Amino acid sequence: MLHFILLMFLGIAAIANAHGGTPVIVPDTMTERVRACTICHSAEGKAGRDAYYPRIAGKPHRYLFNQLRNFRDARRYYQPMAILLENMSDEYLLEIAQYFSSLQLPYPAPEQIDMQPEEIKLAERLVYSGKPEQDIPACSTCHGDSLMGMEPAIPGLLGLSRAYITAQLSGWRNGGIMRSQTSDCMSDIAQQLTDEEVNAVAKWLASHVVSGESSSLDVLSPELAHRCRQNIQENGGAQ
Ligand code: HEC
Ligand code: HEC
Repeated sequence: MLHFILLMFLGIAAIANAHGGTPVIVPDTMTERVRACTICHSAEGKAGRDAYYPRIAGKPHRYLFNQLRNFRDARRYYQPMAILLENMSDEYLLEIAQYFSSLQLPYPAPEQIDMQPEEIKLAERLVYSGKPEQDIPACSTCHGDSLMGMEPAIPGLLGLSRAYITAQLSGWRNGGIMRSQTSDCMSDIAQQLTDEEVNAVAKWLASHVVSGESSSLDVLSPELAHRCRQNIQENGGAQ
């Protein structure tokens, strides 16, 4: 069904182009431009029906921009989006990123997930202390004390589904099947996590209530800013 809708959308775009001399008037508002996106990311920019489609509303704009370029340029893999983004310029992607970033919408209720006390302990240790013995800083040092991210380039970790978080961490661990192959701070960390740790931290994050605000990259230590330079610098790690 979804593919059918997408084909319809692309088909309409093609007909509009084929018209040549007779202009087909489609109002160029942002709502029109992002209609193809909201099929999956839902009109309000929340997560869609399927828990796997991530919410993109309100995420830091440079982070969204970098991801859009990653999908377009095959550094992050998801075919339906790659097709949609294929011919879009950086300027256009930046506008789309700014649009979604500016949407402020209520978050869905956290997932109800049963966790064993040991799992909770394991997750909290990763989130708030990290694993110094493996040079893994606490998730909160980069994702912010409230885990709501750092503007404009580090995404928050709350308000995401367990399925999505697990898929992202696994994507990095499996040698970048879904996320960038290039080595960056987050892929280095994810590759060192065990199955047990991924499972515990994904459950813990998805069942946590969203509260607090995102912070700013200014609070990131120079050492970590250097480690994450590919993700946070202005040109988004373009190679
Ligand atoms: C067919 C469904 C579908 C369509 C259409 C679609 N997306 Fe996505 N989008 C996804 C899925 C699924 C993912 C997660 C992919 C992954 O795991 O890497 C995603 C990921 C993203 C991300 C990364 C989110 C994050 O937190 O890292 C952004 C940004 C995004 N989409 C924006 C868009 C925009 C803008 C459009 C329209 C031009 C669009 N998407 C169209 C399904 C879709
Ligand atoms: C050294 C800094 C740093 C630390 C520590 C860190 N992260 Fe990240 N994380 C990042 C950056 C930067 C990104 C954005 C990656 C990109 O641009 O593709 C990210 C992205 C993510 C994403 C993707 C979110 C989305 O919307 O798609 C997840 C999930 C994630 N991190 C989980 C974790 C977890 C769990 C921990 C702790 C075990 C952690 N991170 C620790 C820097 C860090």
